[in-house]
Amino acid sequence: METAENFLEDVPSQDLMTELLRRMKCATKPDKRLILIGPPGSGKGTQSPIIKEEFCLCHLAPGDMLRAAVAKKTPVGLEAKKAMEKGQLVPDNLVVGMINEALEKPSCKKGFILDGFPRTVVQAQKLDEMLERKGVKVDKVLNFAIDDAILEERITGRWIHPASGRTYHSKYAPPKVPGIDDVTGETLIQRKDDTPDVLKSRLQAFHQQTEPVIDYYRKKSILENLHADKPPHEVTAEIKKVL
Ligand code: AP5
Repeated sequence: METAENFLEDVPSQDLMTELLRRMKCATKPDKRLILIGPPGSGKGTQSPIIKEEFCLCHLAPGDMLRAAVAKKTPVGLEAKKAMEKGQLVPDNLVVGMINEALEKPSCKKGFILDGFPRTVVQAQKLDEMLERKGVKVDKVLNFAIDDAILEERITGRWIHPASGRTYHSKYAPPKVPGIDDVTGETLIQRKDDTPDVLKSRLQAFHQQTEPVIDYYRKKSILENLHADKPPHEVTAEIKKVL
């Protein structure tokens, strides 16, 4: 039977050292609980890995979790598939259950980035209940404010490396070789819901169901508005300033 000791013997010293240094750096970082809200294509998924790395947080994106469930044909995936393909929100109870479970992960101990949750006021209220049970609160809500007119080009030009979640854009962040992931050399894909037609429904869902969530957090005075129409590095700079 493999013990933890045996397992560690096989890990290269360089990797162990890198992980140790990462943990030491993370121990000095303050806990942070963040929510990212914005319409499809506003840059939530682009900025999340940068914030995650900077503050040692876990990154929970229900859209990614749901796509994985659809691919595996789990009961949740089967229930979510139709709504996602039409650009509608999936039922609140499905997403709330997923997030509740995910927040228990050890990697979420120092805090989290919720990227695409909550998207309805009911989800926001459920999140408050979950966090109250843990005795913690959301620190900041980052609102990726952007005009709808900019989003179609962003969405239809997006390419994704499914295994890592790395995101490219054919014009704004192109891979070195078109259609190929820079790091692994694997093929990039486009999401099924990244079409002009489905985008219309996704935007409608955002305006009708998610905008009230922005007001919910504005009233709690934890909302920070970002200029999400600026180039990615400028959005990153704004985020670092408000955090
Ligand atoms: P989800 O996967 O969350 O999709 P979304 O919210 O529509 O957001 P996107 O991933 O499309 O956009 P993004 O803001 O992350 O943009 P990105 O950074 O990639 O949800 C999918 C579906 O799942 C929903 O429709 C729903 O059915 C379901 N679902 C998910 N959460 C749910 C919930 N809570 N409740 C119920 N249902 C739920 O950027 C886009 C492109 O632009 C990229 O190519 C990028 O390179 C480029 N880009 C990014 N920033 C910039 C910039 N500043 N300048 C120029 N280009 C940029």
